[in-house]
Amino acid sequence: MLRVVVFASGKGSNLQNLIDVSKNSENLFKVVGVISNNKNSNALTISENEKIVGFNFTVMQFLSEEDFSNAILNELKKLNCDLIVLAGYMKKVPTKIISNYQNRIINIHPALLPNFGGEGMFGEFVHKAVLESKNKVTGATVHFVNEDYDKGEIILQEKIPVLDNDTTESLAKRVLEVEHRILPKAVIMIANDKIRLK
Ligand code: GAR
Repeated sequence: MLRVVVFASGKGSNLQNLIDVSKNSENLFKVVGVISNNKNSNALTISENEKIVGFNFTVMQFLSEEDFSNAILNELKKLNCDLIVLAGYMKKVPTKIISNYQNRIINIHPALLPNFGGEGMFGEFVHKAVLESKNKVTGATVHFVNEDYDKGEIILQEKIPVLDNDTTESLAKRVLEVEHRILPKAVIMIANDKIRLK
């Protein structure tokens, strides 16, 4: 069974969805911890409701980014984490954590990478940029996380049309439906060894 730790900052709908899928996944994977940078996030409320250990870690609580990274790495080790899933985590993951979990961190992005990715491209900003571009297609991407923001190897993508009357809200809602399909699908592929963690 793949032991998954989810990093999430806000609403946590991807987190809840992963937990729900895991319960019907014949023990292929389990969400064993939640790490947030926002103590008031719904993601931490979900972890409480689901009796999953949850932590609020912000770099401000520590003297350095190194101490911050070490605190997180320490908990990940205690949880025997096999895979980190960034599901609406709005902070850059420190290099030290990335190098300790090389090819063991995946992220869900609310657009078709390599387009509409990079610094500042998160949440509603992504959908706003897609609408402004007049592109007729968008979607979501699951990819490995490396030091190059939003540039790691792509695992899964699914497209949806951008409708003439779409707003950032309507687009976000439909993209989220895609996310809820492809994120657990990618985790299950990894758990099934269909994509090898190098
Ligand atoms: C999701 O749309 C996710 O793709 C996006 O934030 C939302 C979180 O929703 N992540 C990013 O933009 C990261 N660059 P959720 O909290 O309901 O899962």
